[in-house]
Amino acid sequence: EKGGYEHFMFKEIMEQPEALRRCIFPRIKDNQVYFEDFGLSEDYIRSISKIYIVACGSSYHVGMVGKYNIERLTRKPVEVALASEFRYMSPIVDENTLVVAISQSGETLDTMAALREAKRLGAKVLSIVNVVGSSIARESDEVLYTWAGPEIAVATTKAYSTQMAVIDLLALYFARILGTVEQTEYETVLQEMLLLPGKMETILSHTDTVQYLASQYFNHDSVFFIGRNVDYALGLEGSLKLKEISYIHSEAYASGELKHGTISLIENGTLVVALGTYSKLFDKAMSNVVEVKARGADVLALTTQSHRDEMAQTANAVMTIPDTHDLLLPSLGVVPLQLFAYYVALMRGCDIDKPRNLAKSVTVE
Ligand code: M6R
Repeated sequence: EKGGYEHFMFKEIMEQPEALRRCIFPRIKDNQVYFEDFGLSEDYIRSISKIYIVACGSSYHVGMVGKYNIERLTRKPVEVALASEFRYMSPIVDENTLVVAISQSGETLDTMAALREAKRLGAKVLSIVNVVGSSIARESDEVLYTWAGPEIAVATTKAYSTQMAVIDLLALYFARILGTVEQTEYETVLQEMLLLPGKMETILSHTDTVQYLASQYFNHDSVFFIGRNVDYALGLEGSLKLKEISYIHSEAYASGELKHGTISLIENGTLVVALGTYSKLFDKAMSNVVEVKARGADVLALTTQSHRDEMAQTANAVMTIPDTHDLLLPSLGVVPLQLFAYYVALMRGCDIDKPRNLAKSVTVE
């Protein structure tokens, strides 16, 4: 049932283009986002004063990208909270708050508790869930399914990618109703979303490059991921993937924070994974690469095809993704990071599908 692959995780990484097609294609009709039987009315959407995203782990990382994208497209304020913190922080939530719960399993206890607290405070809850009919889906006012298909490996991959696609579709759907996005940008993003599965296939046809890089770096015992804006959110996910399955200590930092402490940890040979996919901030990403290299770091960079050559002049090695609309970069950027974590874990002989101490769905607090 692993489709000829050694691990579910690898199978699920490879299934991502297909999962994205299932998730995205039926939801774009006549150049518009289309959600079948969607219960949130246009009046309600206009009345939303704030969006609160609650989730755990990788789903929370999707929420972080969601914040950037929803705010940029809709100009509605978005807060993102770890579901495990939400109910202990007296959140400012009322009838005009839309709470978005993101969960692959739909059974994560902390996310469920946050959902219940949000409802108690009068908010509407929209959930983005993979498992059809799961508890979170059943208790939400509205559900958008990710349709990624069953995900078996503890480390999430295709659920993450499809959650991201749903968040982007939601942001576009709201933006159109609110009139906060220009028609041309709206259509460009939608067209680019349709191209995502094919672009992902391009990345997945070059797994050997990432495998080679993993063979160069799998022996490190500490790794830093750095990036700004969506690249920071991407770094958090890349770092979680790596530590979860390879047991290598790794941390993700917003690049601007380096000088506020982190840079003291960089010494000769420290591996820094520098994320520079976001073109608006590419120059900043480059200067951070120069900065850590000057302290002796070994830099493995991730950027887009169009910035590859420039990045390669400074970084020790570069992984690339095809160019796409800015809003969609994390959807492609995550794939080489998933593959990197996978191959590193493989080379270290780890139990990839069932890492120690972890469960696929966390149903205790
Ligand atoms: O099922 P959920 O999306 O609610 O799960 C949330 C986290 O437990 C999950 O994303 C976890 O962080 C993954 N194992 C990371 O790969």
